[in-house]
Amino acid sequence: MISLNGVSKFFSIKHGMLSRDKLTVKALNNISLTIGEKEIVGLVGESGSGKSTLARIVMGLYKPDTGYFTFDGIDSRTMTKNDWKQLRQNLGVVFQDPVSSMNPWMSVEKIVSEPMVIRKRKERIPKKQRRDRVVEILEATGLSSNDLVKKIHEFSGGQRQRIAIARALVLKPKYLILDEPISALDVSIQAQILNLLMDLRKQYGFAAIFITHDLSIVRWFSDRIAVMYLGHIVETARADVIFEKSRHPYTKALALSKLDTDVHRREFYTLPGEIPSPVNAPPGCPFEPRCTRAVPECTKAFPLATHISDGTLFHCYNPLEVE
Ligand SMILES: Nc1ncnc2c1ncn2[C@@H]1O[C@H](COP(=O)(O)OP(=O)(O)OP(=O)(O)O)[C@@H](O)[C@H]1O
Ligand code: SF4
Ligand SMILES: [Mg+2]
Repeated sequence: MISLNGVSKFFSIKHGMLSRDKLTVKALNNISLTIGEKEIVGLVGESGSGKSTLARIVMGLYKPDTGYFTFDGIDSRTMTKNDWKQLRQNLGVVFQDPVSSMNPWMSVEKIVSEPMVIRKRKERIPKKQRRDRVVEILEATGLSSNDLVKKIHEFSGGQRQRIAIARALVLKPKYLILDEPISALDVSIQAQILNLLMDLRKQYGFAAIFITHDLSIVRWFSDRIAVMYLGHIVETARADVIFEKSRHPYTKALALSKLDTDVHRREFYTLPGEIPSPVNAPPGCPFEPRCTRAVPECTKAFPLATHISDGTLFHCYNPLEVE
C-alpha cells in the first residue's frame, strides 16, 4: 500500500524576471490518500491542480515539505537510499510523452531493459534472462521480438507508448504511475492503449495512480477517484458513485462540464470562472470564488473531511444532498 499523510509541497518562484522577491506556489496542501493493493486510483482536476506533483512525490522526485508517505510500510521520513532503490523497483512510470524519457539512439531492447540494468552488477539478472523478459513483456504489450533492434523513431505514437508501458512493467512492479498516458494520442489509439492497460492489469495485478483529464475514461478505468482543486483533494469516492452522487460542488461542476472533444487541447473541462492562482490561493475553501453554494464559513478555513459510509470523503461546508 502507498499512503500519503498530510503531504504538502511548496515551490518558491521569482516574482518577475528581474525581481529578487520570491513567491510561494502551494502545489499540494495537506494531502492524504491511500492506494491499496491492486487498486487503481484516478486523479482528476484542472490543469495546475497538483496531480503531477503528487505523482512526483510518490516517485521520490520531490520531498514533501510537510507530512510524509509510506510505501509498503516504509516511512519516507526514515527511508534510506537502499530502501528507496528496492521500492523503486516496485514502481513503474508512464508519462504522456514517452519519447522525452527515451534515448533516440538506443534500441528497444536497451530501452525496455533499462530498469533491469540500473541495479548493482552483482544483483543483475543474467543477460539471457533479461532478453527473455524483454521479449515476454514486448509480446504482452502487442509488440514482438522483431522490434528488439529497432529505434524509437521507427514507431508510431501508440507503439511508442506500448514500449513505454513495457519498460514500466519489465520488473513486474506492484505499482504504476500513469500520468496522462493517452492524452497525446489519437482517439482511436487511446482506446487501444486503454484496453491494453486493462488486459495488463488482469495479467499482472498492479495498483496504479491514473492521472487524466478525461472523466469518461477515469470512471471506467479506476476503482476510486480523487478530485483535486488547487493543491487540495476535495472529494474521494468510488468511481461508480463520484460523478452520480457528488457531494462536493466542484465534483458536481466537473460532472456537468462540457467535455472538450479536441484531444490535443490541454483542458478538457469548461467551467465558469477562473481557477485562482496557487500563488495567491484564497484562505478557506479554494473553490469559493467560483462556488454557487458558498456560505460565510467558506472563506475562513479549509473544511475538515466528512466521511460517508460508502467510503466517500469530502471537504465542504455546504455539500450537495444525495439520496
Ligand atoms: N518545479 C516547479 N516549480 C515551480 N512551480 C511548479 C513546479 N512544478 C509544478 N509547479 C506548480 O505547481 C502547481 C501544480 O502543478 P502540477 O504540474 O502538479 O499540476 P497538474 O495538475 O499536473 O497540471 P496539468 O494537468 O497541467 O498537468 C502549478 O501551479 C504549477 O505551476
Ligand atoms: S466549502 Fe463552501 S465554497 Fe467550498 S465547495 Fe463547499 S460550499 Fe463551496
Ligand atoms: Mg500534470
